[in-house]
Amino acid sequence: MSARVGVRVRVPAKVNVQLSVGAARPDGFHDLANIFLAVGLHDEVTVTPADELRVTCEGPDADQVPLDRTNLAARAALALAARHGIDPRVHIHIAKDIPVAGGMAGGSADGAGALLACDVLWQLNSSQRELLDICAELGSDVPFSLLGGAALGVGRGEQLTPLDVGGTFHWVFAVADGGLSTPAVFREFDRLAEAEGAGLHAPVADPALLAALRKGDVAALSSTLSNDLQRAALSLRPSLADTLAAGTAAGAVAALVSGSGPTTAFLTEDQETATQVAKALTASGTCRTARVAQSPAAGATVV
Ligand code: C5P
Repeated sequence: MSARVGVRVRVPAKVNVQLSVGAARPDGFHDLANIFLAVGLHDEVTVTPADELRVTCEGPDADQVPLDRTNLAARAALALAARHGIDPRVHIHIAKDIPVAGGMAGGSADGAGALLACDVLWQLNSSQRELLDICAELGSDVPFSLLGGAALGVGRGEQLTPLDVGGTFHWVFAVADGGLSTPAVFREFDRLAEAEGAGLHAPVADPALLAALRKGDVAALSSTLSNDLQRAALSLRPSLADTLAAGTAAGAVAALVSGSGPTTAFLTEDQETATQVAKALTASGTCRTARVAQSPAAGATVV
């Protein structure tokens, strides 16, 4: 048998079909009820043995990706190596197709991908539970990138319960020029909540939305989508309102900001409408580019 020279893992992006945000906790995070849906836009993470740990990246937005040890892929390799007393001498290459700092968990995807790839390369055979625990240390969205499909995330979003999805959903994602910082969007959420003086609700999953996912019911999903961070993202980037309006006018059944933004997500009735909406969004001049994708998608997978 020939020695394995490298391991390649494919990891999906996500959209939050519900993002219910509670009050800030003493540790600075917010309690969430977060319904994740994996979508078919992917990064590919390849690890190969090397003299030292290094990260490279290719793709249209590669220049915006940090290549030092702040990159979640590097942190994942370091965390797994530390647990097993391994010297993490790997080259991690990221082929990036998920928008950077776009609210679609692209950095988290690279963390989950590198973790699984290193686990296979180093023949550690970690259980999914062990990998999910490391993912949770790396970031709130990283466990879901490993798992994929659909899941309810509570706590800061890292405690997952997988959900059934009874059909395929068709989406368009409008990619904005430049990213938004997730901490900045949460800070703006806090500022708006404080300015209003209204008490924050305890975050809970919407049973009607869970039923819509279970049935694969597009109409029911369209009327239950919600994102508590949307107002904060719009406050920091008011032009996103034009993008949302352009996609709705073009035939999307629902529109919302994806996670902390600035990517906007448009649910459509079918693949054909998705293609039309993407064309109209691109022509509208309200976004940099528009991508069609379906959900659910599988989690991190060795290819
Ligand atoms: O967990 P992660 O590192 O991805 O979170 C990035 C930032 O987003 C946190 O530092 C925090 O400012 C904010 N955040 C939050 N509440 C959460 C998740 C993230 O306030 N539940």
